[in-house]
Amino acid sequence: MEIKDDQFKEFFQSLPEKSATGGNLLANYRGFWFGAHLLEGTITFQKHFKANDTDIILATMPKSGTTWLKALTFSIITRNNHSVAQSPLLFSNPHQLVSFFEINLYKDGKIPDIDSIPCPRIFATHIPCQCLPNTILDSSNCRIIYLCRNPLDMFTSMLHFSLQNGFLPQQPQETMSMDGLFESFCQGTYQYGPFWDHFLGYWNASLKNPQKVLFLKYEDLKEDTNGYVKKIADFLGCAFSSEEEEAGVVEEITSLCSLENLKNLECNKRGETKSFFKAKHSTFFRKGEVGDWVNFLSPSMANRLEKLVQEKFGESGLTL
Ligand code: A3P
Repeated sequence: MEIKDDQFKEFFQSLPEKSATGGNLLANYRGFWFGAHLLEGTITFQKHFKANDTDIILATMPKSGTTWLKALTFSIITRNNHSVAQSPLLFSNPHQLVSFFEINLYKDGKIPDIDSIPCPRIFATHIPCQCLPNTILDSSNCRIIYLCRNPLDMFTSMLHFSLQNGFLPQQPQETMSMDGLFESFCQGTYQYGPFWDHFLGYWNASLKNPQKVLFLKYEDLKEDTNGYVKKIADFLGCAFSSEEEEAGVVEEITSLCSLENLKNLECNKRGETKSFFKAKHSTFFRKGEVGDWVNFLSPSMANRLEKLVQEKFGESGLTL
């Protein structure tokens, strides 16, 4: 798809650092890699978005559990609007209920009418903390929830997602394409990469202002989903009452949003996300296992990534 805005095209071309890994031309913007479409959406969002104090922003790197975080947060926030048996999640993919700033709302340089969205508004983004507009970081009391995931599993998930949606060549070149993707993952030259600066941007923001940024890990969410559902509600200022807890509302939300449940719904078996790239709804729900990388990465790949993790996060206090 062509970029139509000539001024933006010129700006993209003027960025000095480019990378063509994965067949996509990416440019480095403020230390992160973006394709032209994503950067156009990102810059339009930066210029035009005005945060409300009640806004909730879900931030992730792709393939770290975004779909799950959307489903959980949507369910927590709207729990008084409808019963679980009537949840919109039963009829719509989570990405249809919570939009991404740069992929959906501000795509193609459009300025959306978001003032009509009822408060609290829930938005999502893959944009790094370092590229968020001041209206989010400094001049509003909106909240950010960041979810990160072990990079070895994130890479494994990305590999499957890319193959299933035809973003990478299929067999017989599968190994070659895996090698290419792996190399760009380790170099950081893929959309929104590098993952280490992405994680650290939100990690440092959460240390600086824990009331504003809640930093979560996919693995913790898997281990104690009920506990984290309560933690998210507390953070967002809508804690579960003791009556709700006794009535089992927390567990209901956890099971509504479980991979097994969402994966088997018709709305997630069919259809695709519509943006400048198309992804089948079904491909957002795969295994959801911690440590699945062991089935796909060779020992040398795992070793390289583990060393990278050690090198990049060793001093930060962030354990993955
Ligand atoms: P796997 O490919 O390892 O299975 P994202 O939503 O950021 O694209 O991340 C997708 C990953 O989250 C996939 O991981 C997917 O299976 C997993 N996932 C999706 N929905 C989930 C859920 N409800 N519970 C746990 N994991 C989920």
